[in-house]
Amino acid sequence: MAESMKGLHRSHRCTEISNKNIGEEVTVMGWVSKRRNLGSLIFVDLRDRSGLLQILFDENYVGSEGFEKAEALRNEFVIAVKGEVTKRGGAINENLATGDIEIRATEIRILSEALTPPFPIEENISTKDELRLKYRYLDLRRPDLQKNLIMRSKAATLVRTFLDEEGFLEIETPMLTKSTPEGARDYLVPSRVHPGTFYALPQSPQLFKQLLMCSGYDRYFQIVKCFRDEDLRADRQPEFTQIDMELSFADVEDVIDVNERLLAKIFKEIIGIDIKLPIQRMTWQEAMDRFGSDKPDTRFGMELKDVSEVVKNCGFAVFTGALENGGSVRGINAKGQGAMPRKKIDALVEFAKGYGAKGLAYLAINEDGTYKSSFAKFMSEEELNALVEAMEGKPGDLLLFAADKNNIVYSVLGALRIEIAGQLGILDKNTYNFLWVTEFPLLEYSEEQGRYVAMHHPFTMPMEEDLPLLDTDPGKVRAKAYDIILNGNEIGGGSVRIYQSDVQEKMFEVLGFSKEEAYDRFGFLLNAFKYGVPPHAGLAYGFDRLIMLMAKEDSIRDVIAFPKIKDASCLMTDAPDVVEDKQLDELCIKLDLEEQE
Ligand code: AMO
Ligand code: AMP
Repeated sequence: MAESMKGLHRSHRCTEISNKNIGEEVTVMGWVSKRRNLGSLIFVDLRDRSGLLQILFDENYVGSEGFEKAEALRNEFVIAVKGEVTKRGGAINENLATGDIEIRATEIRILSEALTPPFPIEENISTKDELRLKYRYLDLRRPDLQKNLIMRSKAATLVRTFLDEEGFLEIETPMLTKSTPEGARDYLVPSRVHPGTFYALPQSPQLFKQLLMCSGYDRYFQIVKCFRDEDLRADRQPEFTQIDMELSFADVEDVIDVNERLLAKIFKEIIGIDIKLPIQRMTWQEAMDRFGSDKPDTRFGMELKDVSEVVKNCGFAVFTGALENGGSVRGINAKGQGAMPRKKIDALVEFAKGYGAKGLAYLAINEDGTYKSSFAKFMSEEELNALVEAMEGKPGDLLLFAADKNNIVYSVLGALRIEIAGQLGILDKNTYNFLWVTEFPLLEYSEEQGRYVAMHHPFTMPMEEDLPLLDTDPGKVRAKAYDIILNGNEIGGGSVRIYQSDVQEKMFEVLGFSKEEAYDRFGFLLNAFKYGVPPHAGLAYGFDRLIMLMAKEDSIRDVIAFPKIKDASCLMTDAPDVVEDKQLDELCIKLDLEEQE
């Protein structure tokens, strides 16, 4: 039986009431979170998005009919209660904002009954993800998810206010558009009116925001959905949200300045964290050499050391072979881990192989100074000592080495650093280490495509001093591109854009696009540039990642109301789903599912 709320008006959310309101009559509405029946007294914890409030049903105040209704309550019933705020009779609950008060009900209405939920609506439950996501609307009632989404909403408002004060305009860009060059696979939408053609959902508003600069809007931003059909991970969803911005008459320093102040404001106002400005900067090369990663986690050391020089003449063929092939030998020192059991070391070797390593060489320094090593038999005592010294190895340390092409050595040791730190439990979520990584390579060589591809995107400006290298050694050209890293996560990235047609043409040439191909794909942008284009630069944050880290969560799923699972489906709506033949006919689409298999 669902009663009407006619004549009742919610006066407060649960935790908006405090001991300052004692003696006042209030009306609250929400969900029954817990019920205790003590015979002549019934206690209910009422829950709304603000938190919990205790309600006392006493027949002397609520009447016999009201008491009967209270007796009928079950968890998750939606009720309205009118009553007087009183000091709690029983023990004070220090954990609740409203722990020293209760509402002594004089009226109750059951607005909606509820089935028993498939899992408890509580904080920190251990329910399986699949079940939580199938019943996401119940999962979203849980206080921890509510906290996250409230934080997200506050952050979005702060971003808007801050950027408005800095002279940015919020301008929407199309969702049905042409493919944008961010390098992932596009989501396509078939056109009914133009059979055989497709819109692409934007991977980012990149080209449109550059066009807005051509149109004179000067400073643009948008909190915007982006779509990328790529393999999902904890920090990747097929649709995600960017805080996207672009600035005219701006260079690297201008973008960094406004974003450092933006980050400082959000972190201070939302989680009370003071970010020390300016944020540390590191070139891409330094990040790779020291941390084996373009998104280093700087909360701990265990930095990479290049020992190529030390081992170049040693007797271990794995090391010398890698050097002869133009690679390097580098190591990390896991301090104090020398006694790690063989089984755990073997697991690290397997882990390294997952990142392309052919193996992982180790050397543990026993407390008595002797060595236990997978390659000691290939090296002389002096060679081993020199290696240990280069690694600043002390008794009790574990040294791990990778020998291979540089990119493999970086990725193996970079990942190993994080893995070991995770195992040691030293990744403190309360520490926030920001870092700008700058001077990214402009291009990377794609073995698959047999050509250079843009590392960021084809409109990224090369560093002026490297321009001549575009002709002679394109792989060496550095870009005016930057990422903002937080605790080893890439939370944002951007670049200064090319605005000179000769540089842009050269860039397309290096990328292997003919002029026709370039105009075919990006003609609208290239033509726009012919009508007067300001120098411009920009950046986009992964908003979900930013909130994930502020909320101390491990997955962006926990800060997105209705996320998708690893295979990009939604367990609640069952999207994607088949459609009616009629819909396909209208789009002139015939399915050939056999070919897929
Ligand atoms: P980029 O491709 O680096 O740059 O994207 C910007 C930021 O978006 C986040 N991000 C994602 N978050 C969740 N799920 C995903 N699948 C996903 N992909 C990216 C990351 C990333 O740093 N147009 C440029 C920006 C510019 O140059 O101004 C762009 O999109 O945190
Ligand atoms: P092997 O002689 O192949 O048994 O290798 C001896 C040790 O070197 C083992 O611990 C291997 O895991 C390790 N190893 C093999 N290839 C590499 C490599 N490319 N880099 C680092 N260590 C390696």
